[in-house]
Amino acid sequence: MTSVEPDARLSSASPVICVEPARTPEERELVYQIRREVFDQEQHLTTWVRDFPEEEQSLNVLAWIGGQAVGTGRVSLWGDEAQIAWIAVRKPYRGLGVGRAVMQYLIQWAREHGAHIVTLNAQTHALGFYEKLGFRPIGRPFYLAHIEHQLMELKLGSQQAEGGLG
Ligand SMILES: CC(C)(COP(=O)(O)OP(=O)(O)OC[C@H]1O[C@@H](n2cnc3c(N)ncnc32)[C@H](O)[C@@H]1OP(=O)(O)O)[C@@H](O)C(=O)NCCC(=O)NCCS
Repeated sequence: MTSVEPDARLSSASPVICVEPARTPEERELVYQIRREVFDQEQHLTTWVRDFPEEEQSLNVLAWIGGQAVGTGRVSLWGDEAQIAWIAVRKPYRGLGVGRAVMQYLIQWAREHGAHIVTLNAQTHALGFYEKLGFRPIGRPFYLAHIEHQLMELKLGSQQAEGGLG
């Protein structure tokens, strides 16, 4: 388990955020539950939140605050490219550093597994979130379902970004 101390700018009452792989069937169900809550019920983006072929060759993680699963994300490795997807934080837990902790874990995993570049399709409302982690937009925005997206990339190999991970 990786413990990520909340940002020093947060109040001292901020909870410790732990990110760990979703290994058991029960933990995988929690991943799908959070995806369903955010991408289906909240955003109406898709009802298809599980059983992608990629799931078997991907790492899914859960972020925990206390005993509560509060966020999730997935990374897949294709050659030297890591693809990140399904980043979601349950609404009551946003703004606490959970999304950043999930991203930092996935980026570090990508680096340790030999990736030279990390790509993702960002919802454009979240561009600033990904830019703070070092991602840069590539090309023009496009629509997936009714939500505007933007391809973004992070080149690994420099220690410039990723919120201080390296
Ligand atoms: C986008 C999302 C994952 C961010 O998670 P979060 O836990 O609220 O974000 P964090 O608290 O870790 O924020 C980290 C930093 O990014 C900033 N940030 C967070 N969301 C942002 C947004 N939508 N736009 C710009 N900046 C944002 C925060 O202010 C913080 O900045 P700081 O380091 O200067 O304090 C979350 O809002 C979410 O799940 N949204 C719904 C699902 C979604 O849109 N997922 C993305 C699909 S591409």
